[in-house]
Amino acid sequence: MNKSKAPATTRKTLGQVVVCQGCCCGRTDKGHPPVPVDWLKHEWRTRELPKKMHLSISGCLGPCDATNVVLLMFGNQAVWLGGLKTQDSYRDLVQWAADCARSEALHPLPPSLARHRLQRFSEEFPNVRVA
Ligand code: FES
Repeated sequence: MNKSKAPATTRKTLGQVVVCQGCCCGRTDKGHPPVPVDWLKHEWRTRELPKKMHLSISGCLGPCDATNVVLLMFGNQAVWLGGLKTQDSYRDLVQWAADCARSEALHPLPPSLARHRLQRFSEEFPNVRVA
């Protein structure tokens, strides 16, 4: 019988922010607003956020028609955002992450981001145990 240990990490964070820059999000040549990836990375480093809130830039997350998609993951929760069309939206995202990091606790999304919440899946995931 295989008695392998469960995977573990010492790199625990409050959450993870996944910013899509795939086949559509940020593709100005396809008519989508830009995603300020370099600015986001700079802000994340300057504000020393990576150890508290991990930033990932991803390929296509799926709901391309929502335009400029961001996935927020914390604990067993995922919050999807779409339609981040302005630099102000990304600025609010950085500020929210910085506020969470500073207080070492998750804060509610500001209204300016909460209004971008996107229902990603046709059904909510049932409350089942994986293990
Ligand atoms: S490219 Fe972002 S969701 Fe597809």
